[in-house]
Parts: sequence; C-alpha cells; structure tokens
Amino acid sequence: MRSVVHIHDLSFAPFISETTIQTRIQELASQLDTDYIGKDPLFLAVLNGAFMFAADLFKHLKCQPELSFVKVSSYVGTKSSGRVDELIGLQTSLKKRHVIVIEDILDTGVTMDKIFTLLESEQPASLSICSMLLKPYSYKGKHQPKYIGFEIEDQFVVGYGLDYKEHGRELPAVYQLIR
Ligand code: IMP
Ligand code: MG
Repeated sequence: MRSVVHIHDLSFAPFISETTIQTRIQELASQLDTDYIGKDPLFLAVLNGAFMFAADLFKHLKCQPELSFVKVSSYVGTKSSGRVDELIGLQTSLKKRHVIVIEDILDTGVTMDKIFTLLESEQPASLSICSMLLKPYSYKGKHQPKYIGFEIEDQFVVGYGLDYKEHGRELPAVYQLIR
C-alpha cells in the first residue's frame, strides 16, 4: 500500500488496506448470496464511485446476479423552476424485482434518498442498500442500509472508486485526508 498520496492540493494517508477491503467484500458477498439466492436479484451500481466495489463484489457472488450501472443526474425542469432528479442508465424493468443499490459511500444520505424515491416508483418487490462505506454520524437517510463494508468517522476519504475532484479513484485501498 502506498504511504502518503498527494491529490491536487491535499495529502492522504493509508486508512483501509486492500486486503482488509477484499476480505470484507467476501463476507458481504456470502451474506448477499444467502439473502438473494433463487430470487433473481438485480444489482444497480451507482456511477462513478461504485464501479470498483461493484466489480470486486461481483467476482464472489453466487446468487446469479444481474448488474446495471446507473447515474443520478439533476437538471432544472422546463415546466417548474425546481431541480429534477433523474436516474439514467436503467434499461430493465424493476417491477417485482429484488433490487440492491450498490454505492461507494453514504454520507448525509441525500443522494440515496433521491435514488430510493426514483426506484420505488418502479415498484420493485424489494429494495435494499449495499454500500462500501457509511458515515453513521452524518447519515440522515430515510432507509437503513442493510449491507455495509465499513463504518467510518466523518472524515474525507479517497481511493477504491472515491475521488477528490475526480482524482484518486484508481487507488486499490482507501486513504484519509491528513489535517
Ligand atoms: P450524500 O448524499 O451526502 O450521502 O453523499 C454522497 C456522495 O458524496 C457520495 O456518493 C460521494 O460521491 C460523495 N462523498 C461523500 N463523502 C465522501 C468522501 O469522504 N470522499 C469522497 N466522496 C464523498
Ligand atoms: Mg458517489
């Protein structure tokens, strides 16, 4: 694991190692297998951050999972002045499907609440959350995540899909901001 990493104007120190992440992912995968085997589960990985977590998680799943990548985009609606959220990339119908949203990190929970609202309107049979990281002290989301890799303090982290101004996603481990 690289020691200190410099991204733009900030420096980051090693926080969660690649080995620790991979071990935890295997545990999550067997938990998901137990819960979803025979249910034809559909996993929706949220871009960009969740790409690496989703890829590694999928290598271990034995519940015959389906995968789609989605992205949340916000735009200013034409008829109202308010911001409208839209989920792009969804190609299959979610009706009566068992859906698991894969995220990189849950911070305030605002993003996940939006995703949940958009997905619930598609009437899935069930909807659950699988996130690599959770900041429990800042999370105010309406839905409790069922599958969590690691709970962390309210600190800024990068690596393993997570970015600081679009850089650092390629790091195979998680790094924390040095203050
Ligand atoms: P939320 O809506 O506050 O839960 O924030 C979710 C989004 O903020 C995540 O999907 C990340 O893109 C970003 N984010 C939150 N905390 C961090 C962090 O520590 N490092 C990098 N990105 C973060
Ligand atoms: Mg994200």
